[in-house]
Amino acid sequence: MVLLDLLVYNAICGLKRTSDISACAFRLGGVMVGHANMGIREVENVKKPFMLPREVHVQVTHSMPPQKIEIFKSMEDWAEENILVLLKPVEKCWQPQDFLPDPASDGFHDQVKELRERAKEIPDDYLVVLVGDMITEEALPTYQTMLNTLDGVRDETGASLTSWAIWTRAWTAEENRHGDLLNKYLYLSGRVDMRQIEKTIQYLIGSGMDPRTENSPYLGFIYTSFQERATFISHGNTARLAKEHGDLKLAQICGLIASDEKRHETAYTKIVEKLFEIDPDGTVMAFADMMRKKVSMPAHLMFDGRDDNLFENFSAVAQRLGVYTAKDYADILEFLVGRWKVDKLTGLSGEGRKAQEYVCGLPPRIRRLEERAQGRAKQGPIIPFSWIHDRQVQL
Ligand SMILES: [Fe+2]
Ligand SMILES: [Fe+2]
Repeated sequence: MVLLDLLVYNAICGLKRTSDISACAFRLGGVMVGHANMGIREVENVKKPFMLPREVHVQVTHSMPPQKIEIFKSMEDWAEENILVLLKPVEKCWQPQDFLPDPASDGFHDQVKELRERAKEIPDDYLVVLVGDMITEEALPTYQTMLNTLDGVRDETGASLTSWAIWTRAWTAEENRHGDLLNKYLYLSGRVDMRQIEKTIQYLIGSGMDPRTENSPYLGFIYTSFQERATFISHGNTARLAKEHGDLKLAQICGLIASDEKRHETAYTKIVEKLFEIDPDGTVMAFADMMRKKVSMPAHLMFDGRDDNLFENFSAVAQRLGVYTAKDYADILEFLVGRWKVDKLTGLSGEGRKAQEYVCGLPPRIRRLEERAQGRAKQGPIIPFSWIHDRQVQL
């Protein structure tokens, strides 16, 4: 955040120290201005037609020592041979149209009718989770921006021919099919409030995200490794549940998306594996740093113009249905520790060893905390979601 914004932000929130910022919640243009500990109040005549994020940490920028940029330059050929090969040629890729009624065919109306018949059986809580997943995919411009904040690997021109830039554009192009397909499916289903969903997408892209990756490709690629696996798991679970609810087409759609996420996970974890080989100390410290800060979800700033806890509420439903849970978070971390053989690293500095110990000990710690929280958990309230015309869903 530039200094001027920071000052304005502080002035609005009445903060004296920048460290208070993460406690501050407010919206401009979203007609709500508030503070975490003073609630939300309506504000009339908001002049600025934009919205600032509800929660932003103090941003550390360019934390990777500049000489380490050379590491990424020297990995160019390696990335071409090992990472770009994980992209699928466009001609071999599925497209959303392959799984949707064809508007140019005579059978279009019947196909839509069939889709809507199947979608009738889908429960509201499942729909909320599917919509939240779709909105997360639809904020793709933010994720491409995030990759292009990373020093040494960003697409400097928009059409750069470095391996890193080629990967980022092609990855984005593959991902773009996910939101498209889910969006069109949900539109045709007739079960959701598309206008509320579209507003949420517009708010979310306008808000961006706060992954705290500090322009460092070490942190950035650890973050994306984690996130691709998280989306692989959640789309896999929505596929399983769609099958249980009798919508085999939807199950196929979610399964296809999950398999893309898996391939992307393979690419990002391979990059980090290589970083562990080249710079074990720097990589293990970045891993520990990312986990200490906690991996925020890409859509954590979502807002529909109404529910100030929309992301938390959506996440609560996803947790209850078992689509994405706190246990998955621990499982992903444990998987990555194993994938990168973090416990077997040798020759680390004192700080590197501390980071190694922290990361390796974290999954069981998260599990213990999670089990205790589960033991205390009461049944959540039933609340309306604007995405499904304010029908009520149990959290
Ligand atoms: Fe995706
Ligand atoms: Fe992905």
